[in-house]
Amino acid sequence: MAVREIRPGIYPVGAIDWDRRLFDELIPLPDGTSYNSYLIEGSEKIALIDTVDPTKGPELIDNLKKLDINNIDYVIANHAEQDHSGSIPRILELYPDAKVLTNPRCKDMLMDLLLIPEDKFLTINDRETVSLGNKTMEFILAPWVHWPETMFTYLKEDKILFTCDFLGSHMAASDLFVVDEAKVYESAKRYYAEIMMPFRTSIKKHLGGIKDMEIEIVAPSHGPVYQMPEFIINAYKEWISDEVKNEVIIPYISMHGSTEKLVNYFVDVLIERDITVKPFNLTRTDIGELAMALVDAATIVIASPTVLAGPHPNIVYAAYLVNALRPKLRFASVIGSYGWGGKMLEQIKEMITNLKVEIIEPVIVKGYPNEEDFKSLDRLADKVLQKHKEHNIIS
Ligand code: FEO
Repeated sequence: MAVREIRPGIYPVGAIDWDRRLFDELIPLPDGTSYNSYLIEGSEKIALIDTVDPTKGPELIDNLKKLDINNIDYVIANHAEQDHSGSIPRILELYPDAKVLTNPRCKDMLMDLLLIPEDKFLTINDRETVSLGNKTMEFILAPWVHWPETMFTYLKEDKILFTCDFLGSHMAASDLFVVDEAKVYESAKRYYAEIMMPFRTSIKKHLGGIKDMEIEIVAPSHGPVYQMPEFIINAYKEWISDEVKNEVIIPYISMHGSTEKLVNYFVDVLIERDITVKPFNLTRTDIGELAMALVDAATIVIASPTVLAGPHPNIVYAAYLVNALRPKLRFASVIGSYGWGGKMLEQIKEMITNLKVEIIEPVIVKGYPNEEDFKSLDRLADKVLQKHKEHNIIS
């Protein structure tokens, strides 16, 4: 990759991963990703902010060679996860005088995860500064976005905030800076939904902590660089706010058509009531799309047939994920069918205890749905509408 310049002496030296389609063997990456690493050349010292996934280490090294970098003083580790830290050992081999500069918690994790010896580290504390000569780095500890050791690096003279995962997007793009805002918004929202959403409270705190800083550029370690920081900061403010939208999310599975019939009918009656509805057939859906829909929705209705006395395994997977992502949902219900019995409803309720939701009367039917069952769905839709109105959740 050609090496470009963000500002004089500030070079992106990371790698674009056009082909990666799964992260953590869990998260779909329809648009690939990038591992952004930044070289800061000060008048006296040189720092490398984060590295890249080990699979892309040779590209990072190649970029450093293109810049004729023979010495690195500091490798800044904003985050210990291996997609950013995994190439640190190789960098330390190539630049034996380099020290890893990070906070004590990140140091401990890097020693555990990458077996980096302790004498390779220098540690800093919150708001401490380190000079590179004509450039000064300030470190801002920001735990739990999304690991406990995360931090930001602020380059004072250039007013650039390096945020690592925070505010980033899984998006491979040849553009260094954001060009297509709508596309980046979508990718950043997907990223937020899949990775940051469980940490809304920490995010609120950290956005508060940086609100009085002069920031001209936000440089994350995934996706394009933001020349208009308010674009992504305002998007995050919207996503973490306590506001929910007049939307119902329906993750569903149907084996022989009964649950599908219920879902299709329920979708129609919600539309009739001017409620936005998003059904997700879990045999086909990209789980990231479901996560994104959960960022704003007021209500989830889980729809499942009964399998071996409980919910379908795909529903178990989705319920576990929804529970772990802790979206700001207000209401939940269950619809579905059974042949001869089971405890599907009880089991689903036990799987979503992280959600601070009021449960609305479920509709579980025996066999194929009949007229009485459809009337029950009408009543469920009325109840959802009533609850949304009572809480001023109206589009
Ligand atoms: Fe991009 Fe948490 O690593």
